[in-house]
Amino acid sequence: MNLVIASDHAGYAMKENVKKYLLEQGHKVIDCGTDSEASCDYPIFAKALCKEINNGAAELGILICGTGIGMSMAANKVKGIRAAVCSDYFSTKFTRAHNNTNVMCIGARVMGEGLALELIEVFLNTPFEGGKHLRRVNMLED
Ligand code: RB5
Repeated sequence: MNLVIASDHAGYAMKENVKKYLLEQGHKVIDCGTDSEASCDYPIFAKALCKEINNGAAELGILICGTGIGMSMAANKVKGIRAAVCSDYFSTKFTRAHNNTNVMCIGARVMGEGLALELIEVFLNTPFEGGKHLRRVNMLED
């Protein structure tokens, strides 16, 4: 898949490891930063990632900050973006299946890397169900 990833300083270490994993799995990955653990402002990186989805360069995105919450708030301000904080199996699966979520937000201070990678696999491999859910997602866009 064509993917895009970004983080702030709190998510930087996890972003680097997730990116490595995704590349090993054969995905293409655009990295929108940040590039170090120096303190930075997560909305900048969320905005950059959303641009890559809206211009068609990437199908799905992964945002990582301390909690995942600030990134999700920032991403959901952008039209066309449906971002969700994913920290458990059920929510991760059904936010893809029912909400057609296109940006997964992860809290690097909330979960370990092992769980993050498992949930990323669920996110990437769960299709949108469409049907009545498409009507609802369209209502969100309106
Ligand atoms: C950074 O300290 C932290 O506030 C940020 O990574 C994120 O958790 C915000 O939602």
